Amino acid sequence: MAANDDVDPSPAVPLLESRDGRSFTVRGPMSECPRVGEYLAIEGAEAPLAFVEEVATDSAGEGFVASGSLVGDVSNGAEARARWSQAPVQPGPASAVQRLLSGPDDQLHLGQLADRAEVGVALIPKRLNRHTFWCGQSGSSKTYALGVLLERILLTTRLPMVIFDPNSDFVRLGETANGADAESRATLGARQVVVLRPGDETSPLHVLFQEMTARARAAVLRLDPVVDRAEYNALLRLMQDVDAVETMDIVAYLLSHDDPDAAALAQRLQNLGVLEWKTTWAYGAESATAVIDRRPAATVLDLGGYDRNEEQLTVALAILDDLWARRTERRPLLLVIDEAHNLCPPDPETPLGVAVRDRLIQIAAEGRKYGLWLLLSTQRPSKVHPGIVSQCDNLTLMRMNSHDDLDQLSLIFGFVPRGLLAQAARFRQGEALVAGGFVPMPSIVRVRPRVTPEGGVDVPVPMP
Ligand SMILES: Nc1ncnc2c1ncn2[C@@H]1O[C@H](COP(=O)(O)OP(=O)(O)OP(=O)(O)O)[C@@H](O)[C@H]1O
Ligand SMILES: [Mg+2]
Repeated sequence: MAANDDVDPSPAVPLLESRDGRSFTVRGPMSECPRVGEYLAIEGAEAPLAFVEEVATDSAGEGFVASGSLVGDVSNGAEARARWSQAPVQPGPASAVQRLLSGPDDQLHLGQLADRAEVGVALIPKRLNRHTFWCGQSGSSKTYALGVLLERILLTTRLPMVIFDPNSDFVRLGETANGADAESRATLGARQVVVLRPGDETSPLHVLFQEMTARARAAVLRLDPVVDRAEYNALLRLMQDVDAVETMDIVAYLLSHDDPDAAALAQRLQNLGVLEWKTTWAYGAESATAVIDRRPAATVLDLGGYDRNEEQLTVALAILDDLWARRTERRPLLLVIDEAHNLCPPDPETPLGVAVRDRLIQIAAEGRKYGLWLLLSTQRPSKVHPGIVSQCDNLTLMRMNSHDDLDQLSLIFGFVPRGLLAQAARFRQGEALVAGGFVPMPSIVRVRPRVTPEGGVDVPVPMP
């Protein structure tokens, strides 16, 4: 066995080497092999923890070689450059890992490490000022877990949110669930959660046609600036003054101009029946944009209450355009979009879909500096426009079986160790990989229970 003669035998106990005090390798016997995502501790009070990012079998095939980053107490001067040679390591103590993952401020506590229930994981509230991508296959618990995060934001921060809710899943965010603790009840009770619903008598979800931009109106009317140039031009010329006209009088107003292009535009409005979308238009009443402008703690937009996809898109467009128009006010707002593929797919089929998607691409690219932060939830990375996903710095990944999807996520979110992404194929319901700036270290978390009731839960199979 000459080939094995020059291979170092694996040490009897795991030993760590680090030349730069930042990265490390550990070699040891197979029986002690750590998993990607685990922490190992070097002996000594000031020593850092070793976060395992890759694991392989050693060249002799008898032991393991693990590598990763040294984290934790490595900040002060000499320590940061320390060398470690043949240092024995053991599993990191829960107290040290907890200190690292929940820090001194564990307010935004999302849950426990999936394989160490004694270690809590908290997000870093100030890092919600980035875009977040929230992904997992159907039924993986995305909406449930997203609800946990929104509750924590309500309970522990003053960051206002607007929630685009296509399945009416968050319409009970202002209530408390049976079993919620008294403190959460009291705190949530003091936060203003406004739920806007189509056709609701006291809290209606609707917008004003007159407040929409020319481009948005054209999208609602399926007008192309080149193909339909005469009508588009009439829209630009005549609709500037439409603010003063009641919605139901717009057709008469257009016909009064004795202009064939205006008449064609009036016909288009009538044929599409746009002005009669009774639950879409505010008809002079207060628009959803004005409610959001008052910045309640959370504004839930119950888009699931609309019959037509066009109505959902129209309301979303009016709201996104308004937020963009006011961006220089720099008032922070988290835009939470569940089922984000509805609003920003790669290839929308209608001009309205294109207009909504393009506005979201713009917010993804430039919104951060104005305090407009996106949190997008969807089932597969390819269902959302790549120009939006690639702007996300935070990732939450729930169960995901598809290797293609995991490969794609690995390309986009290069900062997440591959070995952690791969584990998503075996996640149980409620387990999530959180990674990126908003969490101290990439971690697989079992998400804590909700304190608010879910809106639309799965329909059970009827049994005899
Ligand atoms: N941690 C949990 N504890 C208890 N029930 C849960 C938990 N997570 C999810 N569920 C239940 O599982 C079902 C599916 O969860 P959820 O709706 O969050 O999945 P999803 O990933 O959003 O699915 P979809 O992509 O289809 O929207 C729901 O009925 C929810 O109540
Ligand atoms: Mg869902």
